[in-house]
Amino acid sequence: MSTSAGPRVPQHIAVIMDGNGRWAQQRRRPRAIGHRAGTRAVNRCIDFCLEKNIAALTLFAFSSENWGRPEDEVGALMKLFMNALDREVAELDRRGVRIRFIGDRDRFNPPIRSRMDAAELLTGNNKKLTLTIAASYGGRQDIAAAARSLAQDVADGRLQPGQIDERRFASRMALADLPPPDLFIRTGGDFRISNFLLWQLAYTELWFTETLWPELDAATLHCALEDYASRERRFGLTGAQHASQDVPGAALSPDETSA
Ligand code: IPE
Ligand code: IPE
Ligand code: MG
Repeated sequence: MSTSAGPRVPQHIAVIMDGNGRWAQQRRRPRAIGHRAGTRAVNRCIDFCLEKNIAALTLFAFSSENWGRPEDEVGALMKLFMNALDREVAELDRRGVRIRFIGDRDRFNPPIRSRMDAAELLTGNNKKLTLTIAASYGGRQDIAAAARSLAQDVADGRLQPGQIDERRFASRMALADLPPPDLFIRTGGDFRISNFLLWQLAYTELWFTETLWPELDAATLHCALEDYASRERRFGLTGAQHASQDVPGAALSPDETSA
């Protein structure tokens, strides 16, 4: 991935944007107010990635389990999602952002679905930043869908079971066209993955902060990047092997170690 000398900068950052509800509760406001403040933090996070020339940002906006929240909260989130699609897409397009969505799109109502499709179509050729929004997404659901698609190929006689390996499996997962995330960030103080990118995070560096998502700022993201730059990514090898690599973190991508 990174081929330049000097401090290592992640090429792909994946974020669990958590803590909106607690941020609102601290202010004795409804949870929906926290989600609205959270949308402003999304903009700050995108600005930061554009400024730092980070190639890919994947944001966990709504999990497959979040559908189980109270109806009014889900409704408020859908309204915010719709508004954000109406308000932000043209400007993101102008700034060279390619927008994509992963997750079970069929669960959204038709007006949201058509806006998601339109945003992907409009921005599909942009190159500066690939912004993936995980919405109605679950890591287990992603793995199950990949297994189902491979099983269908076997059933149809296009594939032998013995041909299923990590590389072929990965090609059926969400984000198959991107390098796996280098850095995972979770705000809100909890230390868990919450069914985010289970397959794709295998060798990702994990970083957690107490900062609640609506309070996210560039300084917090700087801290995450600094910490990332100080880490030694060994991909299962020894520290000495790692030190002998010319290109830090690049020669031993998980794909190559599994080949
Ligand atoms: C994250 O914030 C946003 C979504 C899950 C949609 P939360 O709503 O989970 O906030 P907390 O964790 O309750 O504070
Ligand atoms: C993860 O946060 C999902 C998103 C941020 C979209 P949750 O708030 O749903 O996760 P748990 O329930 O604390 O594990
Ligand atoms: Mg939460």
